[in-house]
Amino acid sequence: MGIKILTEHIDNPELKKFEVYRKTGGYTAVEKALKTMSPDGVMEEVKKSGLRGRGGAGFPTGMKWSFLDRKSEKPHYLVCNADEGEPGTFKDRYLLERNPHALIEGIILSGYALGVEDAYIYLRGEFFYILQILEKAIAEAYEKGFLGKNILGSGYSLNLYCHPGAGAYICGEETALLESLEGKRGNPRLKPPFPAVSGLYNCPTVINNVETLATIPWIVNHGGDQYAQIGVGRSTGTKLISASGHIKNPGVYELEMGFPVEEFIYSDQYCGGMKNGKPLKAVVAGGSSVPILPAGLILKTANGEPRNISYESLAEGGFETGTMLGSGGFIVMDESTCIVRNLYNFTRFYRHESCGQCSPCREGTSWMEKILYRIENGEGRMHDIDLLVDISNNIEGKTICPLGDAAAWPVASAIRHFRDEFVEHVNRKGCWFD
Ligand SMILES: Cc1cc2nc3c(=O)[nH]c(=O)nc-3n(C[C@H](O)[C@H](O)[C@H](O)COP(=O)(O)O)c2cc1C
Repeated sequence: MGIKILTEHIDNPELKKFEVYRKTGGYTAVEKALKTMSPDGVMEEVKKSGLRGRGGAGFPTGMKWSFLDRKSEKPHYLVCNADEGEPGTFKDRYLLERNPHALIEGIILSGYALGVEDAYIYLRGEFFYILQILEKAIAEAYEKGFLGKNILGSGYSLNLYCHPGAGAYICGEETALLESLEGKRGNPRLKPPFPAVSGLYNCPTVINNVETLATIPWIVNHGGDQYAQIGVGRSTGTKLISASGHIKNPGVYELEMGFPVEEFIYSDQYCGGMKNGKPLKAVVAGGSSVPILPAGLILKTANGEPRNISYESLAEGGFETGTMLGSGGFIVMDESTCIVRNLYNFTRFYRHESCGQCSPCREGTSWMEKILYRIENGEGRMHDIDLLVDISNNIEGKTICPLGDAAAWPVASAIRHFRDEFVEHVNRKGCWFD
């Protein structure tokens, strides 16, 4: 089944307990780092690993850390983004529910590297039951001397707090998250300044995803070079993929970067092939925000190369014929799926979650939702199809935060690859799918 960095012991229901995590080698990376490595040494290993942020954008983690203004006299903060609101993505939840100590250990190591004394986990509001799991695990880590003052007698101290949100997708966007953490409405901030310079309470702040941080213990234990040898090209390591839709075995899978998409969908060890034997129609490979691809283009690039699970391979062909790895929310659709209805659902979500600060996003998402509703329900006009493309073009890149892009890309890509289906909805005056 390939190398397991995050999920080796995940099927043990007791793993969330400190003692059990410890028996699997847990917290040895903290011991190693605090006793034998300098903060710069930890940062160096993370840089060498080539680890890229798993929250969606894939920004190199070591590079992000090096932007932190460590000379600033203000406090520095580390914030773990555990908001996970992206439709189709449920891999952070899986880690939080089953392996909370891996995240806590990753936070301690990252905090040490960054010179942070206070760290926060910003948890999606709907995950209230996970709040209990996390708080229990955090209390255990304090009790065993891995959090709090003078950890393991090293002189390094770290406080860790868990802060639940109130259930808003926009609060996963890092600057909206900071606003919310400060007790304000979660409106994204203009950048620059970037959080590494002016983040939480205007202090230098690093924000990283759950999966990103939970990977740090392995990197510290085994070394960045060894991590960099796993995977393919600039996509190093493994990636958690949340697979859902018309497949036999939905779930969360840890794959080495570079794993073939076709094998992932059809192998019994993974998705197990299409449910009910219907042919594959389309895949949204990285959470609802990334461009949808038809079966032909998700299995192979336009040049006929087999696609694999990596940042580069999925992006091959740009937005014309490619997509993005994003957060790894892999939504598989068979031929019974109505692309218009699916897009209407996604767009309704973005309209609901738009914070409303930027007119193109606030007005555009609502307008696109109305148009898609009428196409799906028999009131569509032929020029609506190009109107949708035009509106999406006028949202993309024209908003404070990337929620606008996230709403625009699914629309543009669905029409690019499935225009005939939109035309047929208009001609037939409605939908013919069940
Ligand atoms: C609308 C929106 C929602 C987002 N939601 C999340 C989220 O739930 N979790 C997450 O880690 N990143 C999310 N991101 C990305 C974050 O802004 C940020 O890039 C990420 O937390 C950085 O961590 P990483 O470098 O470890 O990936 C979202 C971005 C946008 C624009």
